[in-house]
Amino acid sequence: MYPADRPRRLRRNAALRRLVSETEVRPRHLVLPMFVREGASEPVDIPSMPGVPHHTRDSLRRAAVEAVSAGVGGLMLFGVPAERDATGSAAADPDGVLNVALRDVAAEVGDDTVIMADTCLDEFTDHGHCGVLDESGNVDNDRTLRLYGEMALAQAESGAHVLGPSGMMDGQIGAIREALDAAGFHETSLLAYSAKYASAFYGPFRDAVDSQLSGDRKTYQQDPGNAREAGREVALDLAEGADMVMVKPALSYLDLVRRTAETSSVPVAAYQVSGEYSMIEAAVERGWLDRQRTVLETLTSVRRAGADIVLTYWATQAARWLRDEPTGDAE
Ligand code: PBG
Repeated sequence: MYPADRPRRLRRNAALRRLVSETEVRPRHLVLPMFVREGASEPVDIPSMPGVPHHTRDSLRRAAVEAVSAGVGGLMLFGVPAERDATGSAAADPDGVLNVALRDVAAEVGDDTVIMADTCLDEFTDHGHCGVLDESGNVDNDRTLRLYGEMALAQAESGAHVLGPSGMMDGQIGAIREALDAAGFHETSLLAYSAKYASAFYGPFRDAVDSQLSGDRKTYQQDPGNAREAGREVALDLAEGADMVMVKPALSYLDLVRRTAETSSVPVAAYQVSGEYSMIEAAVERGWLDRQRTVLETLTSVRRAGADIVLTYWATQAARWLRDEPTGDAE
C-alpha cells in the first residue's frame, strides 16, 4: 500500500540535505582564466563575454589579488600580443606580453596562489593556428614542439608554476618536460590539455584573443564524437610526464571527465570554456536564468563527474558565493 522506499525522507529539510550532500565545490577547486592585452590603457570587457575583461598590466594585477583573496585555487594567464608573426615569436620573448604578465602576477601573488600559463602559439601567430605551418600550410607538429619548448622555458623563467600546453600536438608533453628538465626547471608542473575537442564552444574565446584563424583546428583537436580517443590521449600524456590532465570543454563532455577521473593516476581538471560562460550570461541578461544557481549547479556537476579542478571565468564570483557554504545556499 505504502512505498517502502522513501528517498524524500533525506530531503525534508536543509539540515538533512546538508548532512547527506555528496559533492562539494570549494573556492580552492576553481582556477580563473585571465586575459592580458599588450598596450591596453584600460580594461575592456570582451564583447561576447560580458564581465570578462581584456586586462591591462595593472588591472590584471588587481584582479589577481581579488581572485586570491576570494580564495580561488589558481590563475591561468593568456596573452594578447600587439603584433603577431608566422612563428609566434613573442611567445618565447621574455618581453612578450604573457611573460611580462607572468612576472607581474608572480611578484604580486606568486606566494599565495598557483600561477598557470597557457602554453600554445595560437594567440601569437598571424595565421591563428596553435603551431607553425609547413610549405603546404599544414601545422608542422615537430617543428612546433621545439617552439613549445622555448615558450615553456620563458614561462617558467617568468614565474609560472604550472604550464598548460593546449595545442594538442603529438608529443607536446614529453617535449616540454624535456626542455624544462634540461634547463633545471624540474619543479615546473604540466597540466596537459589531454582531451581537447574541436568545439564550437570556443567561439567567444577566439574573440577574446583576437584570433586570426581562418579554417579550423580539426587536424589537431579531437572529434566531438570520439570518446575512446580521449583515453588514448590521456594515457600518452601520463606516459610523457603530465602532472595533471584536463578535459575540455566541460559540460558537453562530462562523460569524459568521469572516464578520465576513473582511470587517471593524477589530478583531473575540466575547463568550462568561453561558450559555456557566454550562453549562461546571455540567458541571465534576458532574465531567463538565475546566475548564481545556474553557475553553481554547473560547477557542482563538473565536480560530481569527477573533476578535482575546474577552470571557470566565474571563479572569483563563485568563490565569493561559496565562501561560507559549499553549495552556495547561504545567499
Ligand atoms: C588554445 C586555447 C583554446 C582555449 C584555450 N586555449 C581554444 C581554441 O581556440 O582552440 C579555449 C578557451 C575557451 O574557449 O574558454 N590555445
